[in-house]
Amino acid sequence: MSSLLKIENLHVGVDGTQILKGVNLEIRPGEVHALMGPNGSGKSTLAYALAGHPKYEITDGSIQIDGVNLVELDANERARMGIFLALQYPVTIPGVKVADFLRHAVSNVRNPARKEGEGLVAMREFRKEIKQEMEALGMDLAFARRYLNDGFSGGEKKRMEILQLAMLKPKFAILDETDSGLDTDAVNVVSEGINRLTGPDMGVLIITHHERLLEFNRPQFTHVMLAGRIVETGDAQLAHDLHADGYTVVRERHPDVAAEEEAAKAAKEEAVAV
Ligand SMILES: Nc1ncnc2c1ncn2[C@@H]1O[C@H](COP(=O)(O)OP(=O)(O)OP(=O)(O)O)[C@@H](O)[C@H]1O
Ligand SMILES: [Mg+2]
Repeated sequence: MSSLLKIENLHVGVDGTQILKGVNLEIRPGEVHALMGPNGSGKSTLAYALAGHPKYEITDGSIQIDGVNLVELDANERARMGIFLALQYPVTIPGVKVADFLRHAVSNVRNPARKEGEGLVAMREFRKEIKQEMEALGMDLAFARRYLNDGFSGGEKKRMEILQLAMLKPKFAILDETDSGLDTDAVNVVSEGINRLTGPDMGVLIITHHERLLEFNRPQFTHVMLAGRIVETGDAQLAHDLHADGYTVVRERHPDVAAEEEAAKAAKEEAVAV
C-alpha cells in the first residue's frame, strides 16, 4: 500500500527556544531522502519531533501519515503508525535485555491493539527472526542477552539501531547519524544493512555528515537545513557537492537565513555569558 509522511510548516521549540521554523517535507515508502546541514541547524530536532520526544514542542504545523495527524500522539503510538528513529546518541537501558526489549517492541508494532502483558510474538518465531537478522549484521548472538546498549561500544550501539530497524520494519525510518563514530568496516555493515532493508515498503530519511552511507544508499532527494528551515532540495548530486564544498555556498545562496543563523548563535552565546 502506498503511504505518505507529510510534514507541513513544522515549528518546533525546545525549552522555549524556537529551533524549527517551518519545515516542509514529504516522504513515501521506497524513497531515500538525505538531510544535511551544518551543526546546530536543527536536523536532530526534526528527527526527535517526528518520533514524538516530549521535550520537543510542536508550536505550529503538522506531521501526518496518510492524513492522520501525529502531533497529538505519543512516541509509542507513532511507532505503531510506522515511524522509527535511530538515534544519534542511543540510550542505555540497564536491566532490560536486548531480546526482551525487541520482542516487546516488535509485538507492539505488529499488533497495535495489543495490551501490555498480552499477545507477544511467539518465542520460537521471534528467536529465529532475531538470529537471522543478527547474523546478517555480523552481530554476536550473545548481544541478545545483554542489557540494551549497556557497555556497548559506539559501533555496537549503531549496529543495535540497525537490528531494531530490521526487526521492526517501519514504514518510515529516520536515521540520525547512524554512521558517526564507526570504523570503515562497521560503516560498510551498517550501510549494507540499511540498503538491504530499504525497499518499496520503507521510506528513509538519512541524516549524515559523511558520504559513504549515501554512496550505498543513494538518495533520490537531498535536503539542506539551515537555521531550522529546509532551504534547498536536490538529488544525489547536491549531497555530493555539499560534501565537496561545505555550506558556505549554501549560506551565500540564502543570505537572509544565514543572517538568522548568525543571530541565533549570538543570542546563544549571550545567554551562556549571562
Ligand atoms: N534540549 C535542548 N536544549 C536547548 N537547546 C537545544 C536542545 N536541543 C537542541 N537544541 C539546540 O537546537 C539547535 C539545533 O540542534 P540539533 O541537535 O537539532 O542540530 P543538528 O542539526 O542535529 O546538529 P549536528 O549536526 O551537530 O547533530 C542547536 O542550537 C541546539 O543547541
Ligand atoms: Mg544532530
